[in-house]
Amino acid sequence: MTVSAETGVNKRIDFEDLVRHDRVHGRVYYDEEIFRREVEQIWRKEWVFACHDSEIAQPGDYVTRLVSLVPLVITRDEDGDIHAMINRCPHRGNVLCMRDSGSAQVFRCAYHGWTFNNGGKLLGRTFRAGYAPGYGKEGEELNLVPVPRLETYRGFVFVNFSPEGPSLIETLGAAVPHLDRYVDRSPTGEIDIVGVEKMVIRANWKMPLENSVDDYHAGFVHRGIWDMDEDLRKVWYSTEDADSEAVNIDLGNGHTAMDFGSGIRTVGGGVTESVVPDEVQREYEDSLRRRLGEEGANAVLKQAVPHMMVFPNLFMLQNDLRIITPVGVRTTHYYHYVFNLRGADPLINRARLRRHEVSYGPAGMVLQDDIEVFERNQAGIESRIGSGEEWLDLSRGLHRESTNSLGQPTGRTKDEIAQRAIWKHYKDRMTQS
Ligand code: FES
Ligand SMILES: [Fe+2]
Repeated sequence: MTVSAETGVNKRIDFEDLVRHDRVHGRVYYDEEIFRREVEQIWRKEWVFACHDSEIAQPGDYVTRLVSLVPLVITRDEDGDIHAMINRCPHRGNVLCMRDSGSAQVFRCAYHGWTFNNGGKLLGRTFRAGYAPGYGKEGEELNLVPVPRLETYRGFVFVNFSPEGPSLIETLGAAVPHLDRYVDRSPTGEIDIVGVEKMVIRANWKMPLENSVDDYHAGFVHRGIWDMDEDLRKVWYSTEDADSEAVNIDLGNGHTAMDFGSGIRTVGGGVTESVVPDEVQREYEDSLRRRLGEEGANAVLKQAVPHMMVFPNLFMLQNDLRIITPVGVRTTHYYHYVFNLRGADPLINRARLRRHEVSYGPAGMVLQDDIEVFERNQAGIESRIGSGEEWLDLSRGLHRESTNSLGQPTGRTKDEIAQRAIWKHYKDRMTQS
């Protein structure tokens, strides 16, 4: 018998019941069993962003990351090839590399001293005479274990723990043009990660996922900066105007984008004409025209910076990338990467960095507000466990959803179309066999 989630007492998980078109049950944010299933159905089957290739630019460079609850070491070998391997020594399972990043030709396990090259191949076992001839021959079974699939798109390195399934580009699908426009702001079409801020959130990973494409909260949660910046406040109100170009788009596969159109392009900090000398801005724009042509450059320069959530963990906004990493049902790492536009004048990149600091740096005026709300939201949801009052409303804008010229479900930026798109995909994944 399936009992409605509203009773809150039946432990059977029925995602058709928990996730509906206009609401979601609070249990999906705190239930340990649901979290375990998410790891299997989403994090171990979807393409998950792992790192950017500029973080491992040179042969020998590596980063370590927790991806899908698995510690990985991601390296670039002497031939320039990228490897994503489980950061675990095959001898007795010790985590191999403890540093966040660095450069190494050889990794030596701290426990008994086995060594591996940066492609994962076993180089040597200490006191080798202790191993019987023919036992555990130094073949593939003693190398570091690679993640089954690794693909990159425009420098973004994704991994997939499932050996089969759609390719990365198929999965990115309709998100690709937005991602292209995001990177095409660079004169060379490439970006360089230059720093990271790390946060631990005491909330479920889906809080930042939903929040990333939620314009509804901005004027309330970020009231502090809105009160200081009248233009920002006006823009936020204007997205409710009947003639506003700003829309939220369901890109499919759980990907969502907030597209502010051409009318308010200075929002987002990607266009820097007001804070760099005219000649610097002119050269920047000319560099885009040389690479992309007039039409291509205009598509970048006359549109707001893409603001997109690539399901399940890569948030691209303004001058920053944010990565969502669940480590438990109530604990999430939220890493915020700052990058340079490769080839842009240092004044432009410096202006972008200053813009980042104002909003998202350690003393910034935006991100900290969001983190506070995630934790309050988690606490509020958990305060009513089993009460029968656990439903969370997602109905805003249902009556005025439409489709754009590409056939993508579209709505006002303050409508909950993006959240519904995320939950629709979530339910698809969670109910797949
Ligand atoms: S666990 Fe790595 S050498 Fe023993
Ligand atoms: Fe926010």
